[in-house]
Amino acid sequence: MAIIGQDIEKAKEFLEAGQLVAIPTETVYGLAGNALDVGAVAKIFETKNRPSFDPLIVHTDSIEKIGAFVGEIPDPLRKLGENFWPGPLTLLLEKKAIIPDLVTAGLNRVAVRLPRHSLTRSLLEALDFPLAAPSANPFGYISPTRATHVEKQLGDKIPYILDGGSCVVGLESTIVGMEDGKVTVYRLGGLDLNQITELVGEVEIKSHSSSNPAAPGLLKSHYAPSKEFVLGNLDELVPEMLQRGKPFGVLSLSKRFTLDCPAPQFQLSPSGDLVEAARNLFDYLRQLDQSGVELILAELMPEKGLGRAINDRLRRAAAKG
Ligand code: TXA
Ligand code: MG
Repeated sequence: MAIIGQDIEKAKEFLEAGQLVAIPTETVYGLAGNALDVGAVAKIFETKNRPSFDPLIVHTDSIEKIGAFVGEIPDPLRKLGENFWPGPLTLLLEKKAIIPDLVTAGLNRVAVRLPRHSLTRSLLEALDFPLAAPSANPFGYISPTRATHVEKQLGDKIPYILDGGSCVVGLESTIVGMEDGKVTVYRLGGLDLNQITELVGEVEIKSHSSSNPAAPGLLKSHYAPSKEFVLGNLDELVPEMLQRGKPFGVLSLSKRFTLDCPAPQFQLSPSGDLVEAARNLFDYLRQLDQSGVELILAELMPEKGLGRAINDRLRRAAAKG
């Protein structure tokens, strides 16, 4: 079973020995291994049960260090990195040969991120290699935002979980690259789209492509709970399900229903704050999924700010196949 602790030296030792360690970031927990060691990278795919055509994000702690792994950084992307790193931003950049092809699934771009979480930053500073890390969940399931989430699902497969508390952003990083000279967003995430457009102008959004084998994080069904998950108007869904008599749970932004049955109800943010809602999303979804309900009823958020990224996850959670 994994040890859970805050010992950076210990985490470093495991990583230097080619083992995997779960690391906290402000977005979600990552399942990390030495990005330059093909054996460690292969272990990541195996541990997550992730198909090898789904590339990994490489994490490091300074823009200077990135120079060793990537070619020239286009101006708009450099601007984004300089403004939002460390933070919930991932850039797709031209890959140098030092990054194993397994990391990028043979693509010629590598995804790079400088996370902000202080424990992980200290760890990255102490290491002389970058860390490849996908979210620390079994492939296709809800991403972990607490050390205990990782322990529950991967605890018997890895030696150490670096416990950095609960993730303050709670949604995976926003993934941005250039395509045909245009700044393109490939995954909506914890960095608000408005902040990106304020800095670099209008962007192309490709994150709704339903099936792109090069980036399964963008697959239609992903981040999926194991219970049936229905997205719609709660004012209609709740009375309908009450009649059917199937045990259900409710995930709303701020609504609460007065019910005479004990259905679990989670409000992502009672005050309607979308940043708070993003922070709570995966944790509440997990709690509902692990409760006794057969069905989870949820509603979309307003399509603004982080609401767009939350809705992206909710739609994928609801998608079949
Ligand atoms: O917030 C995050 O991004 C977290 C933390 C741990 O950093 N990581 C994360 O990794 O969410 P993962 O592997 O669960 O999702 C990364 C997404 C995948 O959908 C993958 O297909 C895409 O990034 N990706 C990675 N490298 C890529 C590349 N070279 N080209 C296109 N897409 C890429
Ligand atoms: Mg993931």
